[in-house]
Amino acid sequence: TAFAPGRGPHVVITAGPTREALDPVRYLSNHSSGKMGYALAAAAVAQGARVTLISGPVSLPTPHGVTRIDVESAQQMHTEALRLAPEAALFIGCAAVADYRSASPAEHKLKKQEDSDTLTLTLIKNPDIIAEVAALTAEKRPLVVGFAAETQQIERYAHDKLRRKRLDMIVANDVSQAGLGFGSNDNAALLLWRTAEGIQQRTEPAQPKNQLAQGIIRQALALLSV
Ligand code: C5P
Repeated sequence: TAFAPGRGPHVVITAGPTREALDPVRYLSNHSSGKMGYALAAAAVAQGARVTLISGPVSLPTPHGVTRIDVESAQQMHTEALRLAPEAALFIGCAAVADYRSASPAEHKLKKQEDSDTLTLTLIKNPDIIAEVAALTAEKRPLVVGFAAETQQIERYAHDKLRRKRLDMIVANDVSQAGLGFGSNDNAALLLWRTAEGIQQRTEPAQPKNQLAQGIIRQALALLSV
C-alpha cells in the first residue's frame, strides 16, 4: 500500500458510457461497460487514495470505500467533473463520453413519420471534459490521466492525444484486438507519461483489468510524488 487507508490523495475518476437523450424514451450511447474505470477506483482505494467515481449508467457494484456520483449525459458528467477536479490531486478520465448529443432533444416522444423513410438528427459536440480539466489554472489543476481507445497506430495517436489534450499521462489500448478492451475482463495497454526529460513509455501486456488498473494507479501516484 502506498498510503495508509484513506490517507492518500483525492482521486476523481470518470467511468462508463454517457447517454444522450433524443427524446424522453430514447438515447445515443456506446458499449462501454465501465469495468476499467471501476477497477481503477478499486485499485486507488487499495493504494490508500480517497476516491470519487463519476459514473455513467453501468451495471456494476460500487467498489468498497468509493464515493460514487451517478450521471447520465456528458453535460452532467462535465458539471460534476469540473466541480470536483479542482479539489483533486489526480483526475482520471476513463469514461467513454459521447462526442455528440442531440442539438434539440424532443420534449415528447418522437413519432414515426408516415411520409418519409428517413429521419435526420442534428447533433452538436459535447464538451471535452478531460481537456477542460487539464486546462485548469495551476493551483486548481490535478494531475490528469486520459485513455485512448485506438484501432491502429496506437503509439502515434496516443502521443497526439497526450499533447492535444495537455494530459500528464495516457493509457492507450488497441480496441480491435478480440477479447480485449470494451466489455471484456482483460486489457493490454501502452502507458505514456511526461517527465522533465520528455515522454516515457511502457507496455502493459494483456492481463485482467483489475491487475492492469493497479499498474496504472501505481504509475500515476508515482508521478504525483515527483
Ligand atoms: O478524444 P478521445 O475521446 O479519444 O479521448 C479519450 C479521452 O478523453 C478519455 O480519457 C476520455 O475519458 C476523455 N474524454 C472526455 N470528454 C469527452 C471525450 C473524451 O473527457 N467529451
